[in-house]
Amino acid sequence: MKPPPKPAACMPLSNADFERLRAARPKLWGDPQRECKVCLKENGNTYRWWADSSRTEIATYECNCTDQWLMHMWFLNAGIGANYQRLTWDDVASVDPAIVEQIMAYVLNAKRNVADGRNLVLWSQSPGTGKTLLLSLLLKALMVQGFQAHLAQFNEIIDLFTNSWRDKAEREQWNRRVRNVHILGMDDMGKESKGRLEMVEAMVDQIVRARVSDSLPVAITTNLTPQQMQEGYGGGVMSLLSEQADFIEVTGTDYRPRRRELTAQEARLGLVRPIAAV
Ligand SMILES: Nc1ncnc2c1ncn2[C@@H]1O[C@H](COP(=O)(O)OP(=O)(O)OP(=O)(O)O)[C@@H](O)[C@H]1O
Ligand SMILES: [Mg+2]
Ligand SMILES: [Zn+2]
Repeated sequence: MKPPPKPAACMPLSNADFERLRAARPKLWGDPQRECKVCLKENGNTYRWWADSSRTEIATYECNCTDQWLMHMWFLNAGIGANYQRLTWDDVASVDPAIVEQIMAYVLNAKRNVADGRNLVLWSQSPGTGKTLLLSLLLKALMVQGFQAHLAQFNEIIDLFTNSWRDKAEREQWNRRVRNVHILGMDDMGKESKGRLEMVEAMVDQIVRARVSDSLPVAITTNLTPQQMQEGYGGGVMSLLSEQADFIEVTGTDYRPRRRELTAQEARLGLVRPIAAV
């Protein structure tokens, strides 16, 4: 059994991107020759994981540490953290299949959807239903197809517009990225502090307006209902978004307790999740 193939679109980072990540994360995985976050350079660089998507049998995989590292850096640079780097469509459970299909349909039709600037709003009032998971999977799948994606926490984007960023060059670089990537994911819209609402509205308006006018899509997760989004952001953002948007309610119960159980089970079995694109 071989490890998951590295997606063709996965490219080494530029030095500038690498340095920027390293500045932000002193513990960054820097050298796959010496260290591996997947196999830990143990057991002759192998790890155990399910043999196939039915997850009934376990197989031993040879770890391609360099490929895993390249993917790790590629996703990290796109704002996709270590946890979501290791989750795949096989991990999605208990979401109505019709919802998953709708999101997969976006991927299958990516060229058209991205060209048309088709936005996506994944919402549910309850936590832990899989909104961020589905958004990460969407972005990873688009990256595999060669699209540039960036996943940002909504609060991070707000910080762009405040003075809390020390480094002006870094801020500008980030701003450029948020404006220009083929698809921008904004995680947790509406979790910002209410005191900042006016500023937030202006800033959301600015980013969303710029992207909508360039026909570049945004994909949002939120605990707000479309109605609350309309009220919270004065309707301007909503009307911008909804010109070309699918609102998908991600129904279901909080999956976090179940995820904890599964993680414990994997640990008991000595399994290691590889970093995977899809
Ligand atoms: N339907 C699901 N199938 C499998 N795993 C899930 C599902 N929903 C959530 N999870 C897992 O539970 C954890 C929380 O999920 P996620 O962050 O996607 O929820 P969320 O809807 O974004 O929650 P919140 O509203 O709090 O932001 C993650 O580890 C995720 O992988
Ligand atoms: Mg979330
Ligand atoms: Zn390894």
